Amino acid sequence: MSKRNINIAVDGPGSAGKGTVARGVARKLGFQYIDTGAMYRSVALMCRRKGVAWNDEPAVAEIARNLKFFFGWDGDVLRIVVDGEDVTHEIRTNGIGRGASDVSALPLVRADLLELQRSLGEEGGVVMDGRDIGTVVLPDAELKIYLDADLSIRARRRHDEQLRRGEPVPYEQVKAGLAFRDTQDQQRDVEPLKQAEDAVYVNTSDMSIGGAVRHIMALARARL
Ligand code: DC
Repeated sequence: MSKRNINIAVDGPGSAGKGTVARGVARKLGFQYIDTGAMYRSVALMCRRKGVAWNDEPAVAEIARNLKFFFGWDGDVLRIVVDGEDVTHEIRTNGIGRGASDVSALPLVRADLLELQRSLGEEGGVVMDGRDIGTVVLPDAELKIYLDADLSIRARRRHDEQLRRGEPVPYEQVKAGLAFRDTQDQQRDVEPLKQAEDAVYVNTSDMSIGGAVRHIMALARARL
């Protein structure tokens, strides 16, 4: 029997470059890329639409349990379709990021999404990014990366990204929002953001995206 493909877990704080780097690695390896943050963001968006408060645990969990996710490539864009609706852009605002951080602190919501995330990694051959992938979702992943960068650099990247999308938010506001989310994600009681003991720490503060992808590809090749 042939050995299944390896799994790669990429964790770290917001705007450390996890998505871009994980996507680059997945493409080079022909693996599937799974963005678990997008799932929490989608739950937050659907709660807002339905007028459900982000801290109303039973109601939020009910929404999370019934969402149908579809991830698909459209050229270079990874489209996220939830219950048949393309939410790719709508989930990327600072407000929905804050909501995602709030709903992700609820144990019932995490339990709902955990099952789905684990099943996606069952066959191997995935690069999954989030906060608890190496510690909880895929603890047996063959390669675990903890991707980090200084707060001011992450804020700059996120700010630039928002300006490109035509959202003129002040830099200081973006930085404060990220700092708030870092603290909430690291200090929550359930499955907080932390580096897995066997994860490789990669700081991208002085690294280009290409450099980070090459670095992780070298680590992945050693395990293939
Ligand atoms: O990676 P992101 O910014 O899209 O994630 C949005 C929020 O979702 C983040 O603040 C914390 C939460 N999250 C989580 O708790 N666990 C994950 N595996 C992924 C994201």
